[in-house]
Amino acid sequence: MAKAKKDGRAKKVVILLGSPRKEGNSTILAGEIAAGAQAGGAEVKSFYLHGMKIAPCSACEACHRPGAKGCVQADDMQQIYPALLAADAVVYACPIYWFNVSAQLKLAMDRSYALVGEKGYRLAGKKIGLAFAYGGEDPFDSGCTNAIRAFQDAFRFVGADIVGMVYASASAPGDVRANKKVMDEAAELGRRLVV
Ligand SMILES: Cc1cc2nc3c(=O)[nH]c(=O)nc-3n(C[C@H](O)[C@H](O)[C@H](O)COP(=O)(O)O)c2cc1C
Repeated sequence: MAKAKKDGRAKKVVILLGSPRKEGNSTILAGEIAAGAQAGGAEVKSFYLHGMKIAPCSACEACHRPGAKGCVQADDMQQIYPALLAADAVVYACPIYWFNVSAQLKLAMDRSYALVGEKGYRLAGKKIGLAFAYGGEDPFDSGCTNAIRAFQDAFRFVGADIVGMVYASASAPGDVRANKKVMDEAAELGRRLVV
């Protein structure tokens, strides 16, 4: 059960899962992050993006017009927006596909363009965690660093702090469990996201 915090409420963590594999390696890392956050008293809500109807951004710019009330596309992203806005911390977990984030996660990232308000992007000030799995041996030539760099630029622009990241080489679903070091790091990242 989530512990009450000083201000009377548990911290909220939202996890966006970008792998189609429900037992995939990035999902397992996200699960360790979730366990760490829950041990710290947080409430965690995960979204399995592959099972959701999320269209690409259509660049209609309706979300950026004065007085806009968010994205006008009526799809499952409308479930994710309020969760993101209520979250204290957001975790992006995904496999590396073709040397960058998976399309499932990129759709949700692009649609975050609509999370803009009068004072800037509304993810500002949230704590961010990242988790990636890739089949190659080296994060530098597998595409993992491309994904990391995209998030570093995005959250510098938004004004949110990337508290930490975990990433590991793994291929078959579950392979990452053999990497105790990264599993432990993921749980520790979960704890750090909610302090
Ligand atoms: C469509 C596709 C593209 C992939 N592209 C890469 C890649 O560019 N670099 C890499 O190191 N591994 C690549 N992989 C391997 C996956 O990143 C690896 O299997 C990873 O463990 C999957 O994470 P998951 O278990 O969370 O789905 C690819 C796999 C698929 C299915």
